[in-house]
Amino acid sequence: MDATGFRRLWDQIAATGRADSGGYLRFSWSAADLALREWFDAQAAERGLRVESDRNGNRYAHWDAGTGPGVLTGSHFDSVPHGGAYDGPLGIVSAFLAVDELRASGFAPQRPIVIGAFTEEEGGRFGVPCLGSRLMAGVVDPDRARALTDPDGTTLAEAMRAAGADPDALGPDPERLASFAAFVELHVEQGRALEAPVGVASAIWPHGRWRMTFTGAGDHAGTTRIPDRRDPMLTFAFAVLAARKEARLAGGLATVGRVEAVPNATNAIASQVTAWLDSRAPDEAVLAEILSGFTAKVKDRAGRDGTGFTIAPESETPIVEFDPGLRDRIAALLGGAPVLPTGAGHDAGVLAAHVPTAMLFVRNPTGVSHAPGEGASDEDCAAGVDALAAVLRDLAC
Ligand code: GLV
Ligand code: MN
Ligand code: MN
Ligand code: MN
Repeated sequence: MDATGFRRLWDQIAATGRADSGGYLRFSWSAADLALREWFDAQAAERGLRVESDRNGNRYAHWDAGTGPGVLTGSHFDSVPHGGAYDGPLGIVSAFLAVDELRASGFAPQRPIVIGAFTEEEGGRFGVPCLGSRLMAGVVDPDRARALTDPDGTTLAEAMRAAGADPDALGPDPERLASFAAFVELHVEQGRALEAPVGVASAIWPHGRWRMTFTGAGDHAGTTRIPDRRDPMLTFAFAVLAARKEARLAGGLATVGRVEAVPNATNAIASQVTAWLDSRAPDEAVLAEILSGFTAKVKDRAGRDGTGFTIAPESETPIVEFDPGLRDRIAALLGGAPVLPTGAGHDAGVLAAHVPTAMLFVRNPTGVSHAPGEGASDEDCAAGVDALAAVLRDLAC
């Protein structure tokens, strides 16, 4: 397809949820998310595709054709706070355009083609990434999911009800999983590793998120002598540096990108600091090494600071190796497209345990992601649509 054809559809959602930062606030079940779901329904209706939500709030547009399980494609609408435009929506917009391309060529699928939009992929509102697909796969307890809160204290159950969805229905959905013969998620590349317009994923690094709680004694900033302090901010500061050091030494990554202090006052020693650790590594042994080294060092430091430290997992995802047969078939179909691993998490990584799954990456010239500077040229996005159409044609014939 041509770049202007891509841009025409892309521009329809460009303003939805965009903040003054130039990044996006597209949190699941927010007004922006509901507007994107409406847009999804309208796109489906324009193409005569049947729309359906599953019990976990994931939405599908079905091109009902042929027989047997369908070929699923798509991605997610939700963003991290002030995230880029492409992470997620590119896979959904490209899916509609790929369907258009297949139809224009007169292609008659021998099995259904399904466009999916997954819910809360980023965990940007309720903390657990890939929540919609994890619930479907039965790896998150629905009671735990319903009780998850956003930064304002709203539970997932409340947010779903306010949006007209039913949180009581949340839970494993083996029938839905069995209705897919394959899943192909197209996604913007999130680093600088892809030099061709389109690549194919080999694997997703193991990764996880941990909630850290540092406790101490809140007190006056002007009257509490240094030896009398039990300042959790100090232990937290040590932890940030320790995370970086342990990851660097082991050969992985560690990030502390979110922190909350109580009472969060300039002239008070904090009584508690809550922060989140994100860590990823090329293999599970390295990830485990980072975690154990980090935990031991911070515990030791907390002992010396007179503070408390606890760390608890919020989500943990083992290494994902995408279906090698599908990966090689797609790379060959695309004329020897580069095959590369990623450190970013995806619903494709969750579904891969249940459905033969592959990912296509579209080049990102800035290499920036989860920030407003994320980018992809219209030409590369159009090449991504062509690649996706070719893959869908191959899998649905
Ligand atoms: C989600 O995109 C993640 O990799 O954190
Ligand atoms: Mn994504
Ligand atoms: Mn993301
Ligand atoms: Mn992701």
